[in-house]
Amino acid sequence: MKRFILAILIPLSLSFGENIKTIEIPNIPDNKLKDGKGKEVVEQYCSICHSLNYITMQKGLSKKVWEAEVKKMILFGAPIENQKDIDAIVEYLEKNY
Ligand code: HEC
Repeated sequence: MKRFILAILIPLSLSFGENIKTIEIPNIPDNKLKDGKGKEVVEQYCSICHSLNYITMQKGLSKKVWEAEVKKMILFGAPIENQKDIDAIVEYLEKNY
């Protein structure tokens, strides 16, 4: 029985191997955050799940909106544990975006 399974698996894995193709991923540059107080905290937490472009493409959002946005990201699973970091992130975002 074992030999029978191997006899099936080996040719299968060989034929899968032949189908491996390389693809080129387009190089979309990640926008850099503006310099400022709190930038490192934002980079640390806000680039885990998506590019920082989600931040840099925003314009002139209010503190209230940024607060809600950060809360939403925490609901999504952003591992920001203390209020100090939340405040630093919101302050940076409000000032710069
Ligand atoms: C746990 C993963 C995760 C982390 C960490 C995270 N985000 Fe997001 N973010 C998401 C998801 C998922 C979406 C897409 C939501 C949608 O399509 O509605 C998103 C979308 C966004 C958007 C686009 C607007 C929107 O609400 O859809 C902004 C702005 C944003 N994130 C900012 C941030 C900021 C600022 C941080 C850091 C505090 C952060 N994200 C960290 C998961 C995350």
